[in-house]
Amino acid sequence: MGIDRVRWGIVATGNISTQFTHDLGLLPDDAVATAVASRSQDSADRFAAEFGIPNAYDDYRKLIDSGDVDVIYIGTPHPQHYAIARTALQAGIAVLCEKPVTLTAKQARDLVAVAAEHKTLFAEAMWMRTNPVIQAVFKDLAAGVIGEPQQVVADFAFHKPSLPSRLLDPALGGGSLMDGGIYPMTFAYMALGRPAEVKAVGSLNEDGVDLNVAMAWRYDSGAVAALTCGLRSQNPWVASISGPEGSLQLPHRFHHPEYYVRTTASGAERIDVPTHGRGYHYEAGAVMEALRAGALEVPALPHAATLEILDLLDETRSQIGVRYPGDDDDLSG
Ligand SMILES: NC(=O)c1ccc[n+]([C@@H]2O[C@H](COP(=O)([O-])OP(=O)(O)OC[C@H]3O[C@@H](n4cnc5c(N)ncnc54)[C@H](OP(=O)(O)O)[C@@H]3O)[C@@H](O)[C@H]2O)c1
Repeated sequence: MGIDRVRWGIVATGNISTQFTHDLGLLPDDAVATAVASRSQDSADRFAAEFGIPNAYDDYRKLIDSGDVDVIYIGTPHPQHYAIARTALQAGIAVLCEKPVTLTAKQARDLVAVAAEHKTLFAEAMWMRTNPVIQAVFKDLAAGVIGEPQQVVADFAFHKPSLPSRLLDPALGGGSLMDGGIYPMTFAYMALGRPAEVKAVGSLNEDGVDLNVAMAWRYDSGAVAALTCGLRSQNPWVASISGPEGSLQLPHRFHHPEYYVRTTASGAERIDVPTHGRGYHYEAGAVMEALRAGALEVPALPHAATLEILDLLDETRSQIGVRYPGDDDDLSG
């Protein structure tokens, strides 16, 4: 494709956009944030000043139309992802969109189709997949270090005295499942693939927002996964994959760890893998590599996984009774 510098546009100026843009600065000079857009000019200007970004817009659409960028990073709440990503893909601008990319699998399938139609790269920012420690764990698994995996256990639950309001707002896709549960689900999916059977229970608040969810997955191979997420408890926030020969364990905040523990017949060994920054530059680097190769998909962030995880999220939400705007939308036209 012949791109020397990849010009990034940052859509939204909240928490995760700030972390992502900070990490973008850890990449070599060939990654440059050239524009930012916010719903307010003040926020866009403040963000632009903080990161030395030359162009700041008060409207996401203006950034997409500007010609200033090769790829946009979308850091809005989940319900806003779909329309912004669709507009950018239709304009031929590559998209790295926060997880979950959409509220429903139907919306995500539509985005993958639009990306293919416009020959434009599209990826979900499931940054866990590009973390070097996670990659080392799955290399061990593939090498048969613990034998055929039989059990995956993973939890993603935390509690803060004051949670960000979007997490409890149904109109903003609130709930533990979409924000946190997607990580243990993706972890189990990476280890075992798509389950044959899914059972879920959840406790919702009076607004229909899930506060505690437990999932059990069964595979035809005989393997199982036990996964939880929540917004009301300080969990260990750990994950493990176990087989007949041992286990691979990830510590607190398992989705962006600094080490893992490999336990086999020869004992338990802590494996440190060098990482730096918060870890968002790994996914940005993977996107840039794919863009330069002229690819429409980032190998580490595959469309198939995005879609199948959203199928599983749809199924889990249906079992526990969480509904979002868009659940009944007909996108066929
Ligand atoms: N990868 C990760 O580690 C990670 C971590 C946290 C969150 N996330 C994901 O990132 C997304 C955003 O999360 P966040 O924690 O960054 O949220 P946040 O701090 O609330 O920021 C979201 C930003 O989106 C924009 N926005 C657009 N429409 C909005 C609306 N109707 N209400 C509120 N804000 C709106 C706002 O930016 P402007 O005012 O500038 O337009 C806002 O600052 C979510 O999809 C979440 O799942 C990912």
